[in-house]
Amino acid sequence: MAKLLLVFALVVLAIALTCTATVYTVGGSSGWDVSSDLDTWAKGKRFVTGDVLLFQYSSYNTVDDVTKESYQGCNTTNAIQSSNNGNTTYTLSSPGDRYFIAGNKLYCLGGMKLHVTVEADQVASPASAPEPGDSLPTPTSENNNPSIFSSAVAIHGGTYSILFVFLGFMVAIPWVM
Ligand SMILES: *[C@@H]1O[C@H](CO)[C@@H](O)[C@H](O)[C@H]1NC(C)=O
Ligand SMILES: *[C@@H]1O[C@H](CO)[C@@H](O)[C@H](O)[C@H]1NC(C)=O
Repeated sequence: MAKLLLVFALVVLAIALTCTATVYTVGGSSGWDVSSDLDTWAKGKRFVTGDVLLFQYSSYNTVDDVTKESYQGCNTTNAIQSSNNGNTTYTLSSPGDRYFIAGNKLYCLGGMKLHVTVEADQVASPASAPEPGDSLPTPTSENNNPSIFSSAVAIHGGTYSILFVFLGFMVAIPWVM
């Protein structure tokens, strides 16, 4: 009985640990690059608070965290933050719109810019129901499959509740046996 419980505890823990925030490599395999189709990459993905955007790019590029106006005008004059280390992570810590552009204006005008809408991580809401008016996710062969991540987000809260119930159970066992 005790062994079985231990195995169960390990399985539950393993599941809980896999449900951490999603790290999205911007642009998929081609990364943050003027050749990447970032619109297609972002389409159908659901970003929630706690998720991480990982920008990987070559040394002549930069990634600038900017306002909506700067995004629209490809203007880096008042960038909130500019990075050029080739491997930049941004944690989407609050809900709302986030805008990123290439520091090189020509690249930005060429489409090297990214707008994501970050949703609050409401685990109780049905995550995979498409919103009316949303375009359907286009099937791609990229590794960031949107439906899998939506499901992962949906079970996120459930897993933790199971874990806590189970831990409570473990604590109670010595008393009832
Ligand atoms: C870029 O933004 C700055 C600050 O908001 C502004 O002063 C400047 O005129 C803008 N440049 C262009 C080309 O729009
Ligand atoms: C890039 O950043 C990620 C996340 O911080 C890290 O896991 C990875 O090792 C970094 N890669 C390189 C080449 O520095």
